[in-house]
Amino acid sequence: MRIVVIGTGYVGLVSAACFAEMGHHVICVDTNAERIAQLRAGHVPIHEPGLDGMVHNNHQQNRLHFTTELRPSLANVDVCFIAVGTPSCANGAADTQHVFQVAEELGKYLPSSCVVVNKSTVPVGTAERVERCIAEQLALRHAAFAVPVASNPEFLREGCAVEDFMRPDRIIIGSADAQSAQVLQSLYAPFLRKNPRLLMMGRREAELSKYAANAMLATRISFMNEIASLSECLGVDVESVRLGIGSDSRIGYDFLYAGCGYGGSCFPKDVRALIHTSQRHGLSSHILQAVEERNTIQKAGLFIKLKLQLGYLEGRRIALWGLAFKPGTDDIREAPALQLLESLMHAGAHVHAYDPVACANVAEYVPKQWLDSGQLTLNAADPYHVLERAHALVVATEWKPFRQPDWKRIAACMDKHIVIDGRNIYDPLSMQQHGFVHVGVGRGI
Ligand code: UGA
Repeated sequence: MRIVVIGTGYVGLVSAACFAEMGHHVICVDTNAERIAQLRAGHVPIHEPGLDGMVHNNHQQNRLHFTTELRPSLANVDVCFIAVGTPSCANGAADTQHVFQVAEELGKYLPSSCVVVNKSTVPVGTAERVERCIAEQLALRHAAFAVPVASNPEFLREGCAVEDFMRPDRIIIGSADAQSAQVLQSLYAPFLRKNPRLLMMGRREAELSKYAANAMLATRISFMNEIASLSECLGVDVESVRLGIGSDSRIGYDFLYAGCGYGGSCFPKDVRALIHTSQRHGLSSHILQAVEERNTIQKAGLFIKLKLQLGYLEGRRIALWGLAFKPGTDDIREAPALQLLESLMHAGAHVHAYDPVACANVAEYVPKQWLDSGQLTLNAADPYHVLERAHALVVATEWKPFRQPDWKRIAACMDKHIVIDGRNIYDPLSMQQHGFVHVGVGRGI
């Protein structure tokens, strides 16, 4: 098939590369000329395991193309995916302006009918509105064809998006016509050979499924974080509680890790958008509001724990391991580490942070003077280097090499032997044996 993917963020780029990998002819379109130039030159601008090689090979083999020009890309297209960003507006609603800009252009320039597919996470009813928007433009130029719009939400996790795309848990297709349903079923058939979980439903149901899935996962995390706080007061180890409840097959183990809060570009934004949708319909979203509130409290927890240990923070040297919102990605959007940095900078502490891949993105999210003044230094080369004379180490991302570090070497580097373990990756008893004060999340033992 000839496929056009509009938007080269991690969803668009991963989808495009994986479709090309299956033999399709794919054109990626983005208005960001710098990004397109980078991709053409073989540079993949996001850290996503397996993506570099796949993009490079398919580009070389002429199956994957990059351009800023939408109009010429649309010749003979069979399927056109909209995968542009839908960030949060100030009131929490999803900002769909880019989706509708694309819809308008498709209506203006599509030379013949094709299936248009919303892959962006969008409020319920968006597929219908996109279809109307395209139809209005088609009517203005008296086009003699119609363009159906389907909803096909993605469930890719950053850091394993290629793996998730190639071997999906399930594919959801929301459609209102036979043509889109049939085209999308055949497009996804090769990805579902081992696990034929293809769920066909209405477009509104598909749109809400996406929000509800992320909101459910965020709820599990906030619930466990609340149990973790209680565990600290009751002298209970939340890790045992996690195993105790996860072993119930109705509950399962996934997404029950207490920690320093969820971040990233999806959970915070999608929970907020769902709260906004409920409110717009006159409903109070008690559960989701509590989920969000709990997460805000949880993110503040790292700083509070540090302060309790050190008494004051002005002039203290803090080593920070991990900036990314989770391992396997260079994405720091809404990362707990960012909130901690902000509090530490205001308190006058000096932070020396290590992250294997996310350092390059920090400048975009923090005031320049933090870096210029040296109050914040970044290191992508050596996690031990940032520990020199540190008064405490905070672990905010559970990168694998942090799991079994050389404690003797760490003890020799640090001024005080305090570890704030925001991801519960260390065993409290063995930390005691290594001579460290260990403060985890919910480890009331
Ligand atoms: C999430 C969903 O998992 C994907 O299915 C979805 O497609 C994606 O959002 C999206 O909407 O695009 P992602 O944001 O990449 O994927 O990351 P997750 O692996 O879900 O982690 C989200 C956050 O929750 C991270 O900050 C992580 O550290 C935190 N988390 C996760 C916990 O604190 N505890 C857990 O038990 C699990």
